[in-house]
Amino acid sequence: MPKISVVAKDGASFEIQAEPGTSVMENAVRNSVPGIEAECAGACACATCHVYVDEAWQEKVGSPGPIEADMLDFAHDVRHASRLSCQITVSDALDGLIVRVPERQS
Ligand code: FES
Repeated sequence: MPKISVVAKDGASFEIQAEPGTSVMENAVRNSVPGIEAECAGACACATCHVYVDEAWQEKVGSPGPIEADMLDFAHDVRHASRLSCQITVSDALDGLIVRVPERQS
């Protein structure tokens, strides 16, 4: 199973064995990572699962789709590396992925 790292805003790193096909958000919530609120439970309708993708992984993870990009307008402190973690699907290709939780959600 791919391992992903979700770094909380206090710097604590949660190393998670993630099931391929699940979202980064689902894995963060299941492992009680603070700061991932995921109010819409993955429907791409809340922007409270915002994360920053580590620079080394941005190309592999890719850019947000149009609906996700619209929702990111509601997120706090959006950057080039911003993604909604419910829209990142774990796969073997993402083994080693690192994402960081922002200072606060929207
Ligand atoms: Fe609501 Fe990701 S959980 S947009």
